[in-house]
Amino acid sequence: MRTNLTENNLNNKTLAILKPDCTRKNLIGKVISHFQNAGFKIRGMKMIKLTEDSAKGFYEVHKERPFFNDLIIYMTSGPCVPIVLEKENAVEEFRKLIGATDPAKAEEGTIRKLYADNIQENIVHGSDSNDNALKEIAHFFSRKELLEINGWQ
Ligand code: CMP
Repeated sequence: MRTNLTENNLNNKTLAILKPDCTRKNLIGKVISHFQNAGFKIRGMKMIKLTEDSAKGFYEVHKERPFFNDLIIYMTSGPCVPIVLEKENAVEEFRKLIGATDPAKAEEGTIRKLYADNIQENIVHGSDSNDNALKEIAHFFSRKELLEINGWQ
């Protein structure tokens, strides 16, 4: 039986992206350790270079913002690592772990406070709602690539 990407089977999941500044600074392992130490389970992961179209589609909600063009240049400047994470209350818990968009405003100990340089090059993306988590996961992953959905742990 085929499994659909629905609210039911993707509850408690969020999408993280390790951004090009994270991969460029060789911080992939360190940042993923923070996720795992905070109790997130990895349910899907890949390393890719975003095309311009894919980056524009992913960030379409920001297309009228003044930073949009620079955001697309940055997100296509090197490899990214999209990761599907699972934990109770994943979206909110993950946003607490990564901290505010602007590292200057992020709390001590958060990933962006520890590793990010500025509001654009902020190391990691996290979904901002359950609905967006579903859309964002589907942007990068097919059903077959999501381990838990296929009965793997
Ligand atoms: P993210 O959480 O992935 O969501 C949108 C991204 O746009 C954000 O992280 C930053 O990389 C970037 N961004 C958001 N606000 C600004 C801003 N004011 N100036 C530059 N870049 C921004």
